[in-house]
Amino acid sequence: MVPEKSNIVPSEFIIVGGTGNLSKSKILPALFWRFLDNQIDSQSNIILCDKYIKSKKDFFLELQSNCNKAIKSEDNNLENWNNFIKIIKLVELDVVSGNGHLHLVKIIKEKFDENRPIIFYLAIASSLFGNSCKFIRDSGLNVPQSRLVIEKPIGKNKKTAIEINNEISSVFKESQIYRIDHYLGKETVQNLMALRFANTFFENQWNNNNIDHVQITVSETIGVKERISYYNEYGAIRDMLQNHLLQLICLIAMEPPSFYEADQLRDEKLRVLKALKPITEDELQTGQYRSFSDELGKNSDTETFVALKVVINNWRWAGVPFYVRTGKKLSYRASEIIITFKNKPHDIFSKFTKDAQDNPNRLIIRVQPEEGLKLKLTSKAPGPGGMRFFPSELNLSFGDTFTDRLPDAYERLLMDVVRGNQTLFMRSDEVLAAWDYIDPIVEIAKNQEPQLYRTGTMGPEDKILCADENKWIDPKDDRS
Ligand code: BG6
Repeated sequence: MVPEKSNIVPSEFIIVGGTGNLSKSKILPALFWRFLDNQIDSQSNIILCDKYIKSKKDFFLELQSNCNKAIKSEDNNLENWNNFIKIIKLVELDVVSGNGHLHLVKIIKEKFDENRPIIFYLAIASSLFGNSCKFIRDSGLNVPQSRLVIEKPIGKNKKTAIEINNEISSVFKESQIYRIDHYLGKETVQNLMALRFANTFFENQWNNNNIDHVQITVSETIGVKERISYYNEYGAIRDMLQNHLLQLICLIAMEPPSFYEADQLRDEKLRVLKALKPITEDELQTGQYRSFSDELGKNSDTETFVALKVVINNWRWAGVPFYVRTGKKLSYRASEIIITFKNKPHDIFSKFTKDAQDNPNRLIIRVQPEEGLKLKLTSKAPGPGGMRFFPSELNLSFGDTFTDRLPDAYERLLMDVVRGNQTLFMRSDEVLAAWDYIDPIVEIAKNQEPQLYRTGTMGPEDKILCADENKWIDPKDDRS
């Protein structure tokens, strides 16, 4: 039996940039699902702040269409939707000049209580974080129960990340700061920790004696759409690798912490980041989908695809390459981790067939879509036709096993903020260690022209794995 979920206390959710894209597409739909599940009740307030709020009616219509899946999931959810929007308040606020702060303060003071968390979610560009924090302090809104939520990318490099960390930590304590990497809130990413640390089965295998190599693919079919000017400045290395992919590497490679507790987990992830070997030029490959410059309206060297070989300098992982790739406008949407185990030391079946030899055991952790785990094995083909083999698999599909909808990462992360649980959020030293690894990669990438690739392919032709006489495993080949 799966234990019950715990409710949260009534809270103030203040979303700065509240009518913007992130808020409309991710944060508010997540809060609505939690409202439907009675985790958030009508005593909470959701306050959306923006410099200009055009039309409240149009905003709610657009939001409603983003929440349609939730609205249509039960008959009475239209009524629930109408109750949900009653707890939403819109406030015109300029975090630079402070204009509008009296209105915000008034709403918060109405239900002020020291047990009522006041959550500031900065869904805005990181260049405005400093001003926003000063505004919160100057308005007297940084009280012990206040929390700050910020999104990646934190800075554009280590230098700017330090500046941002300094700005926010001059107002908030580290224990009040929640740096979101939404990959950590994904169900299968957490299951990776359950797989490793709630079972004994894999731990003995989880090292360079048994693992040959690891592949991580985060491929998207979408392009960059209206985020193109942001993306052109950041590229795949800063947008995806610096955060989501490095976090996945950390969770696969880290040592078991003594307890599932925020700082212990983050200490272990930090150790992995610090053990990453700086890459060399031939360990990096970048690409750009063909229509990118046209969409942008000018030539650009920004990479929309990156692949690299990650080496972890420690005892557990010495000699085990982690091949990592991510890109836009590729042929499939798939995020998956494939752990390939070493081959048998000796093949007793060699005189019958080579089949058993050619199929190394693989553990496939499918983060999305079709979340689940697969263990690839070799089995004997049934019948009296001699020892013949075929690849078979143990398959745990979360979708089939748990009939309930799998909640979006933002739902879990937002509830964790209310509970004051920082386990799935990045600490400032982790962010800086990630930039220590990434800054030199950005420099190497500047000297490589990204190779153009066709939309709907898996990026430019590989030059990294083939150098190791290996090849990418295509996510589509793993589907049964
Ligand atoms: C975001 C990146 O952090 O993650 C986007 O900025 C990317 O560029 C997105 O599309 C991918 O998230 P998901 O949950 O769709 O895999």
